[in-house]
Amino acid sequence: MAKEKVVLAYSGGLDTSVIVKWLQEEYGYDIVAVTADVGQGSSELEGLEEKAIKTGASEIYIEDIREELVTDYIIPMVQSGAVYEGKYLLGTAIARPLIGKKLVEIAEKVGATAIAHGATGKGNDQVRFEFAVKALNPHLKIIAPWREWDFKSRSDCINYAYEKQIPIPVTAEKPYSIDRNLWHISFEGGILEDPAREPDKEMFRLTCAPEDAPDDPEILSISFEKGVPYALNGKKYGPLELILELNRIAGKHGIGRIDLVENRLLGMKSRGIYETPGGTILMFAHRELEQYTLDRETYHYKETIALKYAELIYYGLWFTPLREALDGFIRTTQETVTGTIDLKLYKGNIIVKGRTSPYTLYNPDMATFEADELFDQKDAQGFINLYGLPLTVKALMDKKKAMN
Ligand code: ARG
Repeated sequence: MAKEKVVLAYSGGLDTSVIVKWLQEEYGYDIVAVTADVGQGSSELEGLEEKAIKTGASEIYIEDIREELVTDYIIPMVQSGAVYEGKYLLGTAIARPLIGKKLVEIAEKVGATAIAHGATGKGNDQVRFEFAVKALNPHLKIIAPWREWDFKSRSDCINYAYEKQIPIPVTAEKPYSIDRNLWHISFEGGILEDPAREPDKEMFRLTCAPEDAPDDPEILSISFEKGVPYALNGKKYGPLELILELNRIAGKHGIGRIDLVENRLLGMKSRGIYETPGGTILMFAHRELEQYTLDRETYHYKETIALKYAELIYYGLWFTPLREALDGFIRTTQETVTGTIDLKLYKGNIIVKGRTSPYTLYNPDMATFEADELFDQKDAQGFINLYGLPLTVKALMDKKKAMN
């Protein structure tokens, strides 16, 4: 009888290498490794195929999902304005549902009955992967070795690897956990667990320190069409290339570092450091354009939606009716988010230089203190009387009470 198949989210690192063997021994599965190219960089992807097979996987799929990640996940997220707890631009969280979706697609293609991942039992990523799997194919069994086996640490894993003669990557132990994709890089755990301690300068990979950035500011213009960025300094880019180019420019100017103590989904607080260079600029410019083009009530309402949208992404609730419904709202709001934002980048700062849009609602004739035709200043008096009526009534009541 043919063995049952499991699809494993495989990175080629120590954990997932050990998991290949462990799944064979514990479950007797045939292992199909799947690696998603989310822009983690060629050094993480090189030689993966050979490594996976050597480790015991029967086949490996390396899926380039960068375009899809940008078009169907990151751009909608930018349009939503989602930022978690005021700071985190959700770089890890936004990629997880799509990786989950690919795991399911490949499981269905190869006829696997289960999906396994190497996320630990304390983090958010296990939830995000598994919610994606549950939402897209509830019949697939989910295996999370870190919640099952007795290994407590990296050294337990290494010992098991030696014992079972698993070829493991000979990388030096990193003093923290890293997750990288085309939108961001995150660092947490290890020496970063002390929130009083500043991270080492050498840790950062996508940005220089603001104090080391060039002494001359750089001017950058970003153009959007219906909320989708399409040009930098007038030069057209596809969405993926645009983000990669923005990363380069922003990183050079020390833009996009974040240090946050965040509330995890499982309840504990955790300290994370993030670099989201291009994303920081893109979110900034998009918001600037919205402020220039959206009417007041839509803009304010959209701010409340952004909070919810950020929560949905952080909590792994991407494949849900609520997210789809909010997308409907957000899409409508983007109809007039067309125009160009000019920025000045300088030592970690993004400064607005100018804005232009054919759809702006900003009307210099209205804002001016000079007399104009649309607005009769006498009308303001009636507005203030009526809108302020509750204040007047309350004050009169208070006075009356005070007299008794
Ligand atoms: N705290 C961030 C989040 O929950 C980053 C997680 C990083 N994950 C990792 N496996 N290193 O989105």
